[in-house]
Formats: sequence, C-alpha cells, structure tokens
Amino acid sequence: MAFVSNDEINAIRAKANIVNIVGSYIPLTQRGKNYVCVCPFHDDHSPSMSVSEEKQIYKCFSCGATGNVFTFVSEFENVSFIEAVSIVANKCGMELSKNAYISNFTPAFSEEKEIMELSQKFFANNLRTSVGEVAINYLKERGIDEEIIKEFGIGLSLDSNDSLYNLLIKKNYDSKKLLEIGLVNSVNGKIYDMFSRRITFPLWDKDGNIVGFSARVYRGEKDVSKYMNSRESKIFKKGETLYNYHNAKTIAKREKEIIVVEGFMDAIRIASIGLKNVVALQGTAMTNEQIQLLKKLRVKVILCLDNDNAGLTATLNNGEELVKNDIETFVIRLSGKKDPDEYILANGGESFIHNVNNPLTFFEFKMNYLKQNKDLNNVEDLTNYINDVLKNLSNNGDSILREVTLNKLSKDYDISLDVLKSRLEQMKPVEIKKFEEIPKQEKQKKDAYTIGSEKILYFMMNGEEYIKNYQKRLGFFSESLYRELANEIVYFWEKNKKITIADFITYVTDNVTIKDKVMEIVNESINDEITIEAMDEYISAVLKIVTKNEIKRLKSIMKKELDVDKKMKIALQIAELKKEEV
Ligand code: CTP
Ligand code: MN
Repeated sequence: MAFVSNDEINAIRAKANIVNIVGSYIPLTQRGKNYVCVCPFHDDHSPSMSVSEEKQIYKCFSCGATGNVFTFVSEFENVSFIEAVSIVANKCGMELSKNAYISNFTPAFSEEKEIMELSQKFFANNLRTSVGEVAINYLKERGIDEEIIKEFGIGLSLDSNDSLYNLLIKKNYDSKKLLEIGLVNSVNGKIYDMFSRRITFPLWDKDGNIVGFSARVYRGEKDVSKYMNSRESKIFKKGETLYNYHNAKTIAKREKEIIVVEGFMDAIRIASIGLKNVVALQGTAMTNEQIQLLKKLRVKVILCLDNDNAGLTATLNNGEELVKNDIETFVIRLSGKKDPDEYILANGGESFIHNVNNPLTFFEFKMNYLKQNKDLNNVEDLTNYINDVLKNLSNNGDSILREVTLNKLSKDYDISLDVLKSRLEQMKPVEIKKFEEIPKQEKQKKDAYTIGSEKILYFMMNGEEYIKNYQKRLGFFSESLYRELANEIVYFWEKNKKITIADFITYVTDNVTIKDKVMEIVNESINDEITIEAMDEYISAVLKIVTKNEIKRLKSIMKKELDVDKKMKIALQIAELKKEEV
C-alpha cells in the first residue's frame, strides 16, 4: 500500500475545481458568484445547495450538508474519504495508487495505527508457525479456508515466550500506550499480552483501520470466556463499529441491501458464500451509532439474528429502531440451527440465499409475531390481536401500508372497515411523520459568546492574517472544544504555511467532533464578509463577555471571603477589570 500525504491530497484538491466535480454528478446553474443545484443529500425539490467556486466548498441551506470536493464525493458515492480522493484525482487526470491509504487517524493517532497493523501482521504470521497448525486445523474443521483467513486477517496469539509485548517493546513502543489501546494487561505490575493462545480477528473502524481485536479459544478450553475483545480505548469504541462495514458498504450500495447478523463468525460465513454485503453487531443490541452507519448507506436492511429468544427480542427491538429511522427493514428468521453460520454449514449456501431473497418486511414479521400464542377463534385473543396491530399501525408512517392492512383485517376477520378506521384514528398518539419530510432540526439559539467565538474561528480558517489577529488579541478560548479547534487551525497553518477552508476540511475529516463543529461554523458563516475589522468586532464582544464573567466570579468569591485584606485585594482586581470593560 502506498501512503498518501496530506500535501498530495491538498494538491489534488487545488487542481480539482469543485464546480466541475459536483457538476459531473448533478446539473449546476450559475447564480451570481456561486452555483446552485438540487441537494443530493436530502429529498430536495428546489435547488437548496450552493457551490462556491471561490471558496471551493458547498453548502445546503435546507439540510445543512457542508464540505469540500472530497466530502461531496465521499457522501455522494458512499465511499471512504481516501476512495473519494482517488476518484477526484482520476476525474482531473491525476493518478493515485489504487491501494493508497492515508491515515484515517488524526496525526496524534498515527502511532496507534502503526502498532495495530504491526500486531495484526504478527498474529497472522503466527498461524504459519508449527504452533499454528492446531489453530489452522480448528479453522479448517469449521470450514474456514485459507482464502477466508486472508480476507478477514485471521491470526493467532501465542504464549508468553512469543508474546506480542516482547516484539513491540523491541520496537521501542511505549508500554503505557500498549496498555491504553488494550494490547497488553498489567497484573501486579507485570505486563502480559492481552490475548494469548487464542485465534485473533482484527476489528476495524468504519474506514477500515484496525482498532482492536477479538480473540477466540480453540482448544476446547472450559471455564474461560469464548471470546475476548479489546477494551474500549480512544481508538476503539465498540458501539461505533459494525464488523466488516468497511468492506460491505460499497457492495451494499450496489446490491441496495445489507444483511445484519449478531456474530462476526456469521458475517464471515455469509461472506464466504459470496454475500459480501454483510455486517455483524457483535452482540444483539444495536446502538444509535450503528443505526446511523446503516442509514448512511440508504439501502434496505435485512436483520438475520440468532435463532434464540435473545435473537428474537433483538429483532423486534432493533427493527423498531430501524423503522423509526426511516430505514426500510426486513427480517429473516432461520429455523433449526442456532445462527447463520451453523445454518449455512448444515443446509448450504443456496438455502441461505433463498432466505435472503424472500425476507419478510419488518411489519409482516411483527404481525406474525403478534399472532403467536393467540387463538384467533377466541374473541378475547382476536380483540387483543387487532388492537396490537392497530397500535403498530398508528406508529407507522406508511399510509399505503395502513390502508392495505386495514382492508386485510376487515376481510380476514369480518370487521367493518369504518370501525377499524375510527379505532385507529383514536389511537393516533403522535402526529405521524411523513417519509419525505426532513426533520427540521430545532436550532438552539446561540448566545453572544458562542456566536462570537465561532465567528472568530471562522475568520481564522480564512488566512494567516486572521490567525495572527487571534493570537495577538485573544490567544485563548476557555471552552475546550473551541480551544482544541483553534489549536488545530494554528497547527495546520504552521505546518502548511497557509490555510484555506477547503483544505482545513480535509485535515479534520477524521476527527468527528471537530469536523462536525467546523461544518456547522462554515455553514453558518460562509456568506459573511471577511475583513479584519469585522473580526475585531467579534473579538471585542467576546473579550467583554469574558471580562464580565470574570468580574462575576470574583464578586462571588469576595462575598464569601472573611479575611479583610484578601477581600480588598479582590476588590482592586474587580476595579481593574471594570476599567477594561469600558
Ligand atoms: N461475543 C463477545 N463475547 C462473548 C461472547 C460473544 O463479544 N463472550 C460477541 C462476539 O462478537 C460474537 C457475538 O457476540 O461474535 C455472538 O456471540 P455467540 O452467538 O455466542 O457467538 P458465535 O458467533 O456463535 O461464535 P462461535 O460460532 O465462534 O461459537
Ligand atoms: Mn456460532
């Protein structure tokens, strides 16, 4: 793989004109200095998106999407950032190695990435040693061949004689860092490998960076947990990962659907029969972050969880959440075997594929579920069933589904349609949201300090004179996110000797918190005029508020202070600050 530096990426960005690139996907109309188009990121009917040639960024006035040429392509084609860079490079006649990668971590995390990749190579190599034979045999017996081993980076951790720790220490990595990212453990001051004598599976973040491992016993050990996972760390957040997402997303887009399973062994098995659009939750519950990752794909989700009670409950709960997020949701329930892995081994891939091609909609699945254990010839059971169905319908935004279901109930159980309709009407607990409607985000009103700080940060992204002005007149934000962002801006400028918004966006892409803030600020300020005078006004306003707050703070301390001398000192301080205030 070839490493692509930020400088190279910026050079590609400078060569690509955002107007041409966006224009290659959707028609643009010139309007004054800018161009407008229908926003591809929400269900737009009038042109809400504006593309600035001068600033090389875009902004949607309706849904708030903002970014540079790379974020546009990445979002539009649903590819990773580096893939977007490569696409843009090609579109303007530049070449980027097909296997190129950039660090998807901010510079601070590049060492963690290096360590994870080295560890992965070490584990993979262990499978090829004589000790590895038993593990290979275990995998073979489970029907996992060489090809799958390679595809999923499966490896082996050894015992303390051949520990990963020894290797990493020899390479001069700091043991504190190794502890932090969960590769080693400290017991009574002595450090051990986290994983030993287990088959290892790398875990990736959404962009394909290795962020942790899961490791399984394979020699029939009892009394230990079957799987051990990396602990949560600054690079590994279990709830934010979906196993195999980085591989599955492109194929899922093409197939217009994605299969969601519980265990990564199930995902590996399903991929091995050719369905690569599969991800695993690594458990049963689905987190909101996982739902957002799925939603981003804008494809059907097929839930295929384990064939036990936990899997059933999780199907109901996860399905409900997916539907709430306007995701088209389907369900497969396999019978006879515990999970998709075992099902495929017992019945073959064809049988599984048949299931995938004939899933139930989540609503059908739920209706079947509601029927279970009910005798619909019994009046009470039937009444309960009808009420359950109506309750579910009242929460469903699909008016056609409501109509069809009501007709079917009326016919099947000989109940008047009017009665069903009026009952449903009574049940309406909340205004039913229309699918085509984008939820208007309640914009919180920002206070003067927030507005001022964000405007100052916006100016800073516009060139070095604004950064210097910040350093001269303000130099510090007490709010930690602003402080961090200001530091990043200064760092970027010092490193590159210049700064533009479009390049700075590239730089922050991997830091979600900072990126979101940058997008928000850019979106709100993009049409502002950029002058030092305008910036000075915001700086003065912020300074005034800072001073006012400091006076407030000192006054409350003074009130509580009993020592007269000290009280006087504080009073003097306050008087000084008051002078500044005017
Ligand atoms: N899991 C875990 N820790 C455990 C058990 C399970 O993290 N002690 C997670 C793993 O990600 C696993 C998933 O939950 O893939 C599903 O667990 P389970 O159904 O028990 O495992 P299987 O996928 O059936 O694993 P195998 O087939 O290897 O026994
Ligand atoms: Mn299993």
